[in-house]
Amino acid sequence: MKPPKNAGELERKLWLEIDKNNIPSHVAIIMDGNGRWAKKRGLSRIKGHKAGVKAIENALDTVLDLKIKVITVYAFSTENWIRPKEEVSVLMTLLFQFLKLQKKKLMEKDIKLSIIGDRSRLPDFVNREIDKVLEETKDNKSLIFNIALNYGGRAEILKAVKDLIEEGVKPEEVDENLFSSRLYTKNIPDPDLLIRTSGEIRVSNFLLWQIAYSELYFTEVLWPDFDTIEMLKAIVEYQKRERRFGGTGGV
Ligand code: FPP
Repeated sequence: MKPPKNAGELERKLWLEIDKNNIPSHVAIIMDGNGRWAKKRGLSRIKGHKAGVKAIENALDTVLDLKIKVITVYAFSTENWIRPKEEVSVLMTLLFQFLKLQKKKLMEKDIKLSIIGDRSRLPDFVNREIDKVLEETKDNKSLIFNIALNYGGRAEILKAVKDLIEEGVKPEEVDENLFSSRLYTKNIPDPDLLIRTSGEIRVSNFLLWQIAYSELYFTEVLWPDFDTIEMLKAIVEYQKRERRFGGTGGV
């Protein structure tokens, strides 16, 4: 792909390596390592999360340039409530501020917000802002920015099962399409690429159903350091993989 004018040497090289005909439609990211990033610098974990928000803003610009259609970020898991109360409250406030401050940019850049997860436990002030931005950006088309909030893959699967039972659907009527249509991600294609930062090699209850055939990319880089160059490296690596979806790839 053509590098942007202001790109440095390494970034240029990576852009030129990327095949515009093999761009993943949906990239999902487990943004890990904010705390360690801060600790390394003698800063508070909160400063780490603030730097993490900057990395999200940068990632949105990069995926737009790459013409990726959906980006999902794991911002808060069903397990994250056990973190110290103060940290939970900071994460909620950062999310609120992000939505409030970025609303204009989301409109200018034609980005549609989407949320997956159980919103019922989120604070009211966050839910109110989410509703505003969902409504305002609902017709935007260039990119879906999907935030996983109070999200857990197992909880999502259980909810789908319960919903189907409650609807009285017969066992023989249940197939993968029907099941997928009861997941939070019903309007979103499965991720082609799942990225996890900070050197942890696990999926941590993220999009368990949806990543059945996703390419997995793990990097040691901590989330606040995951810049455009790191995103481009992940895409270059993705393009080297041969996706067979359970087939033989012709061999
Ligand atoms: C992982 O780092 C990061 C999180 C659990 C939260 C990510 C949230 C944000 C960046 C801010 C709010 C979100 C949005 C969408 C504006 P960690 O704390 O697990 O790091 P550690 O493993 O190094 O301790």
